[in-house]
Amino acid sequence: MKYKIPTGTKDVLPSDIHKWHHMEDKIRDVMTRFNYREIRTPIFEYTDLFKRGIGEATDVVGKEMYTFLDKGDESLTLRPEMTASVIRSYIENHLGEQQPLNKVYYLGPMFRQERPQKGRLRQFHQFGVEAIGSPHAAQDVETMLVSLTVYEELGLRNLSFKINSVGCRDCRPRYREELVKFLNGIKDRLSEESKNRMASNPLRILDSKNKGDVEATKNAPLMKEFLCDSCAPHFAEVQKKLKDHGIEFQIDGRLVRGLDYYTKTAYEIQSDDLGSQNALGGGGRYDLLCEDLGGKPTPSVGFAAGLERLLIVMESLPDSSIPVSGLDVYFIALGLRAQDALMPQMHAIRRRNLRCDIDFLQRSLKAQMREANRHQAKKVVIVGDQELDAGEAVIKTMETGEQISVPIAQLVEELTRR
Ligand code: HAM
Repeated sequence: MKYKIPTGTKDVLPSDIHKWHHMEDKIRDVMTRFNYREIRTPIFEYTDLFKRGIGEATDVVGKEMYTFLDKGDESLTLRPEMTASVIRSYIENHLGEQQPLNKVYYLGPMFRQERPQKGRLRQFHQFGVEAIGSPHAAQDVETMLVSLTVYEELGLRNLSFKINSVGCRDCRPRYREELVKFLNGIKDRLSEESKNRMASNPLRILDSKNKGDVEATKNAPLMKEFLCDSCAPHFAEVQKKLKDHGIEFQIDGRLVRGLDYYTKTAYEIQSDDLGSQNALGGGGRYDLLCEDLGGKPTPSVGFAAGLERLLIVMESLPDSSIPVSGLDVYFIALGLRAQDALMPQMHAIRRRNLRCDIDFLQRSLKAQMREANRHQAKKVVIVGDQELDAGEAVIKTMETGEQISVPIAQLVEELTRR
């Protein structure tokens, strides 16, 4: 093979596309019911947006971005996530001046140069929401309900939320100091990667998957013990509201997430059916991002979730039945004369909203019948020279095997009759 697909990317083949349409239709449907409207931003942005928005000390910015100079020597980056782009667009288009709360959603490809494995790709797809403008815990919980509703209506079970509060710029510095003090005491037991994070991003050490790190930091102080008078009640309120909705959650004091913009609530939604990459999605509050990117202070919260991971879980469900819709009518023309007679009829029927096809390979009756079955056609229309001479067509209903003859001129009427 001379040409191969780039590492960490995947084709979605026509035989699988119905699964993607099924997920995408459900996502749009749920978003509409929750009154989120779609926003589409460019696939690439100026690199500085992500550096500033996501944080230079994060893995995403430090190691994983697809960054390149264009022919005008501008540094551009393929978007690794959407929150920074959405806030850039919110500020640039003055969306806050039109209404005080903007609830938006998105669906599309993101790019991170990670080591590929099951559920981890370099081009992957996310759906997500951003609710820009509300500081209240109810808004945090609504974003969680959006993701839960999408998953549940796609048949997923065994879901759970992990939640934490990562504090704010008032309470986090004091916590960070305490954490660094603790980490200095156990420094020798940390992995090289965690040692490197001591100065730049010590909080991330807490969600290291390295066994030695987990053991060494077992008694580390946690952010939730340091929350200020604004963050602590907010966190309590989120928990109360989740309980009011009967939503299962665990508090995970080590959950810090990989992006620097979070304040207060951070959460992940997990599936027990996913294996090692068990985060289906994640999100949280980011009350300072808008002002960090040059806008007015605007408290916001959102989440994003991977479609590839969602699909892995959907395909593993025991009763996984992702609907495939077959053809309404398959036209079997035996000979070119018959094809000429049938094509205008087929066109008229397609215009009346039925899904139809005809054989373009001039194959035998048997081969065309096989094709009709492959496409799960509900009906086939058969016309050969004999039928043509009589001005008739045979309509066969596949489920019952029943056949009737109708004048070719009445095919449209016959096939579109309810
Ligand atoms: P994130 O946790 O970086 O958050 O990504 C969210 C989800 O995207 C992950 O839970 C996972 O399902 C999927 N994902 C991330 N990287 C990959 C990958 N390499 N391959 C496959 N799937 C992946 C964000 O992106 C934030 N923007 C979420 C957010 C929105 N926070 C507030 N608003």
